[in-house]
Amino acid sequence: MLTTLPRTSLGFFPTPLHPLPNLSARLGGPALWVKRDDQTGLATGGNKTRKLEFLVADALQQRADTLITVGAPQSNHARQTAAAAAKSGLKAALVLRGSAPPDRTGNILLDDLVGADIFWAGTRPLNEAAAEVAAELSARGQRPYLIPLGGSNPIGAVGYATAMLEFVEQIKTIGTTFDAIVFATSSGGTQSGLALGAKLSGYTGRILGISVDHQADQLVPRLVELANATAQHSGEAITFSAQDFEVNDHYLGGGYAVMGKPEREAIQLCAQTEGLLVDPVYTGRALAGLIDLTRVGEFKARQNVLFWHTGGTPALFAYAAQFAAQST
Ligand SMILES: Cc1ncc(COP(=O)(O)O)c(C=O)c1O
Repeated sequence: MLTTLPRTSLGFFPTPLHPLPNLSARLGGPALWVKRDDQTGLATGGNKTRKLEFLVADALQQRADTLITVGAPQSNHARQTAAAAAKSGLKAALVLRGSAPPDRTGNILLDDLVGADIFWAGTRPLNEAAAEVAAELSARGQRPYLIPLGGSNPIGAVGYATAMLEFVEQIKTIGTTFDAIVFATSSGGTQSGLALGAKLSGYTGRILGISVDHQADQLVPRLVELANATAQHSGEAITFSAQDFEVNDHYLGGGYAVMGKPEREAIQLCAQTEGLLVDPVYTGRALAGLIDLTRVGEFKARQNVLFWHTGGTPALFAYAAQFAAQST
């Protein structure tokens, strides 16, 4: 039972759900709505707050005093984990890929502000570097709790099963049904959790993950495994197969975190029609996919389509020079 799992309150729920009339009109496609998980709290919000409510509860139960996690230099997950640690009276150790960039902006600025210790992994694999940091902290008498990339394990993914239940309650109240939910998918916790929540709540629309960095044939088996493990962790007798997951990998562009023309157009269009910010790495790429699928007629004018905003906006500031260069 999802409701009986240990959870600590870190964010603001339910997140707002509202239409995007100007963007819908500009695209001339379906009625677009947005679910505002960029407004969940924890140093500007994002999808990790939902996962961290369950992960931090587990860390506290295990009497940990330090959260350790891994990610890219502009990791939203690392920033939100650091903010969750600050709010919960814990320390945070972030193991980030590569070496320290010359300017500490975007998420790295926020990591610093919330008091995280950052360790740069250099060329070492992230998990190896994180295990070393964990061993060092333990040797100093600290009690580290290791959170995997993206918070995507069965404990974290439960956060998106409960998110789907929240969404289904909201749409019952407003009396709208949705044909599809579109969002950015990467480490899989969001999509696996949504799939479990859909089976538990009876949501039958499409759940379409726009892949940010993986080929669909690599990601889908991971989603199946994580969703099955999450169902088991939640005590739900539900099983998943590849047919339960729809991943579109046509929008990988120049690769992870490379902002191309589609992402830039999506960011500017959304900002200039709705005053709503999406980011260059995740939500801008997913929205670019949604815009393209609308233009090619995959979504019809009579349909309701939800863009599930998963956050990431602090990363915008790390791309300031690229926006400036591309506008000249
Ligand atoms: C803003 C944003 N959106 C989407 C995702 C993808 O979520 P998941 O890793 O659960 O697939 C991430 C993951 O890091 C993210 O930071």
